[in-house]
Parts: sequence; C-alpha cells; structure tokens
Amino acid sequence: GSGGGEVLPLAAMAALAKLEKGAPQRFEITLARRDAWRVVNRTQRVYLTRLADGDKAESFAAFSAVCPHAGCEVEQSGKEYVCPCHEAKFDTAGAVTGGPAPRGLDSLALSVAERDGQPWLHVAWQDFVIGIEERTPRTT
Ligand code: FES
Repeated sequence: GSGGGEVLPLAAMAALAKLEKGAPQRFEITLARRDAWRVVNRTQRVYLTRLADGDKAESFAAFSAVCPHAGCEVEQSGKEYVCPCHEAKFDTAGAVTGGPAPRGLDSLALSVAERDGQPWLHVAWQDFVIGIEERTPRTT
C-alpha cells in the first residue's frame, strides 16, 4: 500500500468496550500478498492495549509482534513482552527493558472507520526493517 501501510480491520469498537486498560491483547490480521501468479495470505500478529476510556483511535496503542532484533514473534507475558528467540524484553509502552533488541517495539497507526454500519478499530500494518536502531518502514 501507500506510505502509511495497509489499513485492515482489527476489531469492532463494541468488542473493545471491556478491554482492560493497560492489558495487551493479541490480534491476528491477514495480509494478502500478490506475486505474479497468485495471492498468498500471510498472518501477522498485533498487540492492542487500551490506554484510556473511550472509542477513539487515541484511546488505544498497537504494536507489531515482530521483534525488532531478528524478526521472531514477541509474546505477551504479564505486563511485558518477551521474545522467545534471544530474550529481548519490552514494557507495555514498547520500550526495551532487556536483551539485544536495537529499538522498542514498532507501533502501528490506528484509526476508526465504519464497517457493516459499526465503528471498527483499524490498524495500518507496516513491516519495518529489523536489526537496526532507526525505525524504518520496509517498502517491499
Ligand atoms: Fe527477538 Fe532476537 S529475535 S530477541
């Protein structure tokens, strides 16, 4: 997609009403990747945390589950994220608290848009270059 990433529905706002503040929840999104002959579906995981009450995009934060160290998938463990590959650790704000990750978790832009007549939270999926300090969107 364009520079802001591929915007995909994440969850109905109504379903997020009871999401506990500060407790990340894992979601899966499916990306359709087209090559010359076919469409290949790829699943990506996203962590969503409610920061504040309300049903605005600003009430939430989303992180890619892709570890910025070498691309494994980070797991949520209590109030932190831990990478199973080399034990990078991140707090709920995505900041590095231990291990080899060169930067914090990559946040993803959120927006609210109607879907089947209901407000839905949408996420702009973006791949980022792994292994470097600077957060750099990957363009392929
Ligand atoms: Fe996550 Fe290395 S890939 S710590």
